[in-house]
Amino acid sequence: MTPREKIIVALDLDTTEKAQSVAASVASVFPFFKIGMKLFTKGGPDFVADILKHGKVFLDLKFHDIPTIVAEAVSNAAQIGISLLTVHASGGSEMLKLCMEKLSVAGGKCRLVAVTVLTSMDSLAEFGIERSPSEQVRLLADLAHRAGVHGIVCSPQELSSLRSRYPAPFLLVTPGIRGASDDAGDQKRTASASAALAAGADYLVIGRPIIAAPDPVEAAERIAREIS
Ligand code: C5P
Repeated sequence: MTPREKIIVALDLDTTEKAQSVAASVASVFPFFKIGMKLFTKGGPDFVADILKHGKVFLDLKFHDIPTIVAEAVSNAAQIGISLLTVHASGGSEMLKLCMEKLSVAGGKCRLVAVTVLTSMDSLAEFGIERSPSEQVRLLADLAHRAGVHGIVCSPQELSSLRSRYPAPFLLVTPGIRGASDDAGDQKRTASASAALAAGADYLVIGRPIIAAPDPVEAAERIAREIS
């Protein structure tokens, strides 16, 4: 895989029309796109099919429910033709294992990655969990790895330790990528694209540094030069 193929552009825009326009223009640099629950609940599978005309799709719906329901949803999503899909590791090993079973029956190329602890959480005390978020990340990453999912989502800060704990082909998918001149926004733990790749990330999810730039194609090309 070339460095360029490791970049996923997060289409966190307000409308499906704007997302299609960004995907059409940025596809010549990075033809892999993330669709989250915000636009999926507007455009549904038809919108995903439209974005698939411009490249591959990572459907970031972070499923979390009882095993049978999530596994059926994973199977349905895989049949749309996407390449990557998220579920919550905290759904438990039974849920993760059933998802992997359904995914292999569905066939195709979709890989399943688990979300551990949301980056918006600084403390887990309100759940009665006394361990730190980073200890909880480790616990849930171990659970996901044992259950046989293809990988996990993790912050740049966790990359090095998780990479040494889980060698390839276990996928590490990392948001929170910023250039020296980019605004961090609400991202708390950031790294440059080249640093995150050097630390062992398989895929980098980049949103605002590209989609909110005055010229998204120019911003994408700048990142492509940085990592090549
Ligand atoms: O910050 P950026 O726009 O590059 O976000 C890319 C992705 O990172 C988002 O689609 C979201 O899934 C994730 N994110 C995160 N923590 C935040 C903000 C965004 O993990 N605080």
